[in-house]
Amino acid sequence: MSLHVPSPGPEWWRTAVIHQVYPRSFASSGGPVGDLAGITARLPHLAELGVDAVWLSPFYVSPQNDGGYDVADYRDVDPLFGTLADADALIARAHALGLRVIVDLVPNHTSDQHAWFRAALAAGPGSPERDRYVFREGAEPPNNWPSIFGGPAWQRVCDRADAAGSPWEDDRSWYLHIFDVTQPDLNWENPEVWEEFRSVLRFWLDRGVDGFRVDVAHGLVKRVGLPDWHGRYHMAEGSGEPAPMFDQEGVHQVYRDWHRVLAEYDGERVLVAEAWIDPPERLARYVRPDEMHQAFNFEFLASPWDAAALRSVIEASYRANDAVGAPTTWVLSNHDVVRHASRYGLPFTGKVDGGIGPADPQPDAALGLRRARAASLLMLALAGSAYLYQGEELGLPEHTTIPADARQDPAFFHTGGEFLGRDGCRVPLPWEAHSPGFGFSPDGAAWLPQPPEWARLAVDAQRDDPASTLSLYREALRLRREWDLGSASLTWDEDLCGDDVLAFRSAGPGRADMLVVTTMQAEVPLPAGWRVALASGAVTDVVPPDTTVWLVR
Ligand code: NOJ
Repeated sequence: MSLHVPSPGPEWWRTAVIHQVYPRSFASSGGPVGDLAGITARLPHLAELGVDAVWLSPFYVSPQNDGGYDVADYRDVDPLFGTLADADALIARAHALGLRVIVDLVPNHTSDQHAWFRAALAAGPGSPERDRYVFREGAEPPNNWPSIFGGPAWQRVCDRADAAGSPWEDDRSWYLHIFDVTQPDLNWENPEVWEEFRSVLRFWLDRGVDGFRVDVAHGLVKRVGLPDWHGRYHMAEGSGEPAPMFDQEGVHQVYRDWHRVLAEYDGERVLVAEAWIDPPERLARYVRPDEMHQAFNFEFLASPWDAAALRSVIEASYRANDAVGAPTTWVLSNHDVVRHASRYGLPFTGKVDGGIGPADPQPDAALGLRRARAASLLMLALAGSAYLYQGEELGLPEHTTIPADARQDPAFFHTGGEFLGRDGCRVPLPWEAHSPGFGFSPDGAAWLPQPPEWARLAVDAQRDDPASTLSLYREALRLRREWDLGSASLTWDEDLCGDDVLAFRSAGPGRADMLVVTTMQAEVPLPAGWRVALASGAVTDVVPPDTTVWLVR
């Protein structure tokens, strides 16, 4: 059965492999927190890996209450990460190495330290300054919405820590914060907000960035009247109706507007939606021809390691994206979820949220890595665009034994420790097996503890080992590029597909015929007439369980 026909258009982003850099944790040029100069110095690693682009999580001025997703100034770099000159140098170096640069844009909320929010507090109820955010008056919170980080989504101004002795100490207005209390939601019904973000886009486009990953892209517009909500955060079970804080029709106007801004620039600049919504048809509405260019495929990321589940999400993803002429994206890990090398080593392989702590059952590390390698090789054979998260090319697991007193994620604190948060996937990278802090920073300082067993996963320990995960990723990316797998047509091989096997043929401009086989619990004989071009594990005349092979004739 035909699974996918190539999406139209020659633009680079339709087939790109994009590597996420989480600036705090990539590399530091001094001090325990990663920075832009540290990233620039390590860019050759990404060029050698063979990716097309780098996406940087936020490095803007921020009190860092949510790892920089609480922006106080969208047009400057936080001193923690460097200067605007460092950002320019990073962009220039990346371009010189043939890497495009995507930066993060956070338009759903600002930091409460942003000049607009400070002005809003000072100006008082009913002011134009307050109208840039979602303020409401009343004795009770305006509705029952919870914050994604725990507790209610409404904060009373007079209950803020900075209210005592301030001009707003008796102000009983509420403001909306879907995330942390220090991340007030912007009011996208206010034209000033539109104007400001157009200007921020231009600020970074003028500096040469190739695109934007748009944070909480489904959240900007809230349902009129802000009604109560009793359903799931994403879609209403059964009814197909979106939750009132997400996926409202009005957000699409924003992306049509931004599409026009990007189109004024040369170089095929892109908008990428971070939108946790389902089903795939709803998500595909963000990548209609006049809106954004890509959207993260979180259903793929969240799928358990199970042939039927993966088959169904792969089919649904292509169906939805092909219908609007957009590339399907693939992603297995990012800075918000349990790393896939650990997820797949748990009894429930679909555990995405909440982290893993010392008191939890620990993942089977060997099984997790084996499956992670198989999953990555499956992903990199799929047509479309793929996202990698820093360290997955090293097979890094989640850090599952971070002590409570070392944790940093606000979600950990607001839920009284019930939700461990995302620190476990944000641990500073190991570059050098025998240096302090594994070479993350000059003196070995690191803002989160690194597990000692990461020494053998360091970049320099894997670089020259042909059996390493790093070598597997490099070879996969080399072949993917040489064979142009991103623009191939795909067909399921129904003779081979089964309860524990996924198999598809890939035919494209760079490689007329390739067979990809992924096994789960089962082993299968190596199909006759094919030879192994790349395998995620040892293959004899059988493909063992939890393995992906790329076969050619
Ligand atoms: C999604 C980001 O990926 C996450 O890290 C952040 O906490 C929220 N959006 C809020 O900005």
